[in-house]
Amino acid sequence: MEDKIRKIFEERFGGKGAVYASAGRINLIGEHTDYNEGYVFPGAIDKVIMAEIRPNGTDKVRLFSIDINEYVEFGLKEEDAPKEGWARYVFGVCREILKRGFEVHGFDAVFAGNVPLGAGLSSSAALESCFAFALNDLFNQNKIPQFELALIGQSTEHNYCGVNCGIMDQFASVCGKKGNLMRLDCRSLEYEYFPFNPQGYKLVLVDSRVKHELKDSPYNKRRESCERVASRLGLPSLREATMEMLEAAKADISEEDYKRARFVIGEKQRVLDVCDALEKGDYETVGKKMYETHHGLSKDYEVSCEELDFLNDVAKEEGVTGSRIMGGGFGGCTINLVKDSLHDKFVKEVTEKFAAKYGHEPKIYDVVISDGARKVSE
Ligand code: GLA
Repeated sequence: MEDKIRKIFEERFGGKGAVYASAGRINLIGEHTDYNEGYVFPGAIDKVIMAEIRPNGTDKVRLFSIDINEYVEFGLKEEDAPKEGWARYVFGVCREILKRGFEVHGFDAVFAGNVPLGAGLSSSAALESCFAFALNDLFNQNKIPQFELALIGQSTEHNYCGVNCGIMDQFASVCGKKGNLMRLDCRSLEYEYFPFNPQGYKLVLVDSRVKHELKDSPYNKRRESCERVASRLGLPSLREATMEMLEAAKADISEEDYKRARFVIGEKQRVLDVCDALEKGDYETVGKKMYETHHGLSKDYEVSCEELDFLNDVAKEEGVTGSRIMGGGFGGCTINLVKDSLHDKFVKEVTEKFAAKYGHEPKIYDVVISDGARKVSE
């Protein structure tokens, strides 16, 4: 990918810039907990967005996306926002850096990626993090703290892309470390690295290829439900909520909001249980919790779809240790914890059964936990 980017940059702009990358992410457990100030447990993966960037001495950004095959130019003032959705991610990152009192000047950039789009692997966070990291290096002598880079990506989603997301994706993309998952407390923003090398198991993603776009999905509505329940309970977020509190307030909460909150309260605890189980090497418990999460996301949070429920059922039939929807939902992937000895058979069966039912094969990715945002070369 780097060679291709360098070649196209040379053709378009002449000469060369520095190359940066940032990663997509998986999340072992802790879904829809980030914006409820709970815990998440993600890691960066070996699928990236990569960009070659060079300051151009003007106040214009000149940007070429290889994958979309589109060129866009924009200025750095608020009113210069481009109309192309993909370019707004980069524009938003520039604006959010400027709003925080740091520097961004004009630059030329060419980028490409291999994070599958709409699969729940956070291609947009990878794009934001790649540019946030690069612009920090090129214009700010890396003075912006790492976590702030993640917040810059998150504000980009809120203010320029219409998704009221939590911090998980951008955090994982920026802070990811090879071989490690990270448990982030989304209230204190403290995090811990957990070496992740499950002996005898593999993490496998099965991509339904049902497209999900959080912007047009009820993602923002889910968040509103949670905020309504928290405020009904007199709490700043669902972080402090317990099942007892929820039961006590049940009569004053809509059936729908009640189910959303029930999922979130259960999920908060599952992240902690999974961390404990992992430290003991107890993968059976990890897997059991993953199935519980799927059930909750499907029945209470209602962010699943027929195809994802089918993938989960097949995993169960095949004796897979753990399986669940990953990411925001409404399509995308399941994440599966599969014994090495079952891996090949599971991949074969799930591919065949899914294709027989839905007329197209799912995509399968073995997960490799990798580094997050970084400079690739000068
Ligand atoms: C999307 C959002 C994240 C998080 C997940 C669900 O990926 O961007 O902030 O809320 O959904 O866990």
